[in-house]
Amino acid sequence: VSPFAPRHFLSIADLTPAEFTALVRNASQHKKTIKSGSVPRNLLGALSGKTVAMMFSKRSTRTRISTEGAVAQLGGQPMFLGKDDIQLGVNESLYDTAVVVSSMVSCIVARVGKHQEVADLAKHSTVPVINALCDSFHPLQIVADFLTIHETFSARPTAGLNSLGMEGMKIAWVGDANNVLFDMAIAAAKMGVDLAVATPKGYEIPSTMLEIIKQAGAGVKSPGKLIQTNVPEEAVKDADVLVTDTWVSMGQEEETIKRMKAFEGFQITSELAQRGGAKKDWKFMHCLPRHPEEVSDEVFYSRRSLVFPEAENRLWAAISALEGFVVNKGKIE
Ligand code: CP
Ligand code: NVA
Repeated sequence: VSPFAPRHFLSIADLTPAEFTALVRNASQHKKTIKSGSVPRNLLGALSGKTVAMMFSKRSTRTRISTEGAVAQLGGQPMFLGKDDIQLGVNESLYDTAVVVSSMVSCIVARVGKHQEVADLAKHSTVPVINALCDSFHPLQIVADFLTIHETFSARPTAGLNSLGMEGMKIAWVGDANNVLFDMAIAAAKMGVDLAVATPKGYEIPSTMLEIIKQAGAGVKSPGKLIQTNVPEEAVKDADVLVTDTWVSMGQEEETIKRMKAFEGFQITSELAQRGGAKKDWKFMHCLPRHPEEVSDEVFYSRRSLVFPEAENRLWAAISALEGFVVNKGKIE
């Protein structure tokens, strides 16, 4: 790696626990400052006269709006480049595109299919590349999710080991083992949060990903434990937060019928929370977009549901990530 190579944000695995904590804390701080009507001094016009390329080969509501909004907030100009807008993939290679685009912008935010695509983009880009979702990771989502948990549970007594105050917490993930889960598991390991994952048989976390999650906890004083099961009730036991996501991620549409069958019994309902013995004040989270099969309306629209503040937190997470990786060139503190 050249000393001039930019620092990229492809997964939560790219961050130390202290850096992840800083990204979440900065997001929280900027949220308060901006909502009170001012702009943090270091962010005022920080991207003035600069552009950020958003190369998205898949649909997006939250990631697109939060990124465009965050760039605007910092005084920059986002350029949304959907898959039908640029030559990539039809007339031009990823290598040529990475070299050309990065020669003209300050950052590339990319939503791709395979992880290798965003990794290759990063390899050949002369500016920071931020992963806006690939088949393996969704780091901006997880910064927003931990901000949401931090805000919701910050009143809890903490033992001081974990600076987000989440030590001893338990997250239950019931559903598909996917991109959002993988980065959540990495963050949980780093932050000392236990994570229980219930998937149907045959849909467990792949072994290569288990290794990455294990690595995430290496060197951490009290890493969060990862528990895997095929029984939703087991995952939910004593959980503070119940989380799920779609059973059919973008790109898996042809598996829809098979997946609907396989995931029967994995819908999050208050009945499941009660049967499984979730904590009394359990909350619900979902990165959205949501379909009714993975969570009942009665949970999704209940007072336990954090889904809408969680979605809004994508904006503050995007501001924090741009600050860390673009404005401060990868120095995250
Ligand atoms: N949660 C999330 O990334 O949503 P979008 O696909 O709408 O960006
Ligand atoms: N797992 C989902 C997340 C969407 C934000 C997908 O990849 O489609």
